[in-house]
Amino acid sequence: MFEQVSMAPADPILGLTDAFKKDSREDKINLGVGIYKNEMGQTPILATVKEAEKRLLAEETTKSYLTIEGIAAFGEAVQTLLFGQDAEIIESKRARTAQVPGGTGALRTGADFAVKKLGIKKIWVSNPTWANHGNVFKTSGLEVVTYDYYNAETKDLDFDAMLASLQSVEAGDMVLFHGCCHNPTGIDPTQEQWEILAKLIAETGAIPFFDFAYQGFGKGVQEDAQGLRVFAEHNTELLIANSFSKNFGLYNERVGGITLVAKDSDIADAAFSQIKAGIRSNYSNPPAHGAAVVATILNDKALYAQWEEEVAVMRNRIQEMRDLFVATLKEKGVEGDFSFISRQLGMFSFSGLTVEQVNTLKEEFGVYIVGSGRISVAGMTKNNMQPLCDALAKVI
Ligand code: LMR
Repeated sequence: MFEQVSMAPADPILGLTDAFKKDSREDKINLGVGIYKNEMGQTPILATVKEAEKRLLAEETTKSYLTIEGIAAFGEAVQTLLFGQDAEIIESKRARTAQVPGGTGALRTGADFAVKKLGIKKIWVSNPTWANHGNVFKTSGLEVVTYDYYNAETKDLDFDAMLASLQSVEAGDMVLFHGCCHNPTGIDPTQEQWEILAKLIAETGAIPFFDFAYQGFGKGVQEDAQGLRVFAEHNTELLIANSFSKNFGLYNERVGGITLVAKDSDIADAAFSQIKAGIRSNYSNPPAHGAAVVATILNDKALYAQWEEEVAVMRNRIQEMRDLFVATLKEKGVEGDFSFISRQLGMFSFSGLTVEQVNTLKEEFGVYIVGSGRISVAGMTKNNMQPLCDALAKVI
């Protein structure tokens, strides 16, 4: 029977990594997938992660199953990270968190719950959005529609257009927001804009779903949660998918959380029991290691402080690369104002390059970026900046 099955198209992001690995050119540059690289072009293991692993190795006594929702101390730490110390949501026990395999696992778990248990049929996502959102939500059975977000001319958020399209959201829909460091544009709403959005969505009766994969990569660990926290003030029901791939560098450990916030603790219990039932029928219960590492760090004062510094180092290096990228393009005489790249937040820059330009960069120069023109600034280094900008100068 398998002969009836045709080849699936390559994934727009991970497929690019496959192509990059096959490329034999030594000077190739991978700015496709969002993976942090240090100045040496390596993706290091954080010192706090190494320390937590050392402790776990010494103290671990069993490899027995975790519960369906995973490590309790992990769930508690996730909620503190999302809502802040002593948040009302935590005090009143309105939130429940399950440890899940990465941000994608969290999105899928939340979407399955929304379709099967809330009867939600439609999800609104920003235009543009992360290339995998559509796959995940459609596979869960949701219709995916878009709201306006980005103004390609001003290279900024088109807030009026965004509000205008969100006017069509109806009760019983779900609306996806990027908690910070919008992927792919790097442009987030301001605090005032978050307030307006939070009130608007509360009025519609739709469920806000936050994809929160880059906490700490925008302005800071607490600062980046402000949009979500404003939403939580105005909306009594929320879903949040968070990831520790980037801010703990735990990409291949697949660590994330799905958090639901309900009107009260009893409702949260019932709703969460259905999230757990969904997990049981999907992958039964989560793998332990990565989440144990995160819980160890977040629940230890000294390790937490050191981790915040490590996140700041990554955030600041990316900002430095943004500024250097803009300066180097100018130095090479590339026409146009690229200062917007310095204002964007997170790992990505939405460059405005066309599909043809992206293809030429790959074919002729071995520079890999996503077809939408999204460049992973986190993969730039002082060493690859010159060849990268030389290539760009030739294609622009
Ligand atoms: C990205 O957007 O590059 C990352 O979130 C990795 C992925 O899974 O696509």
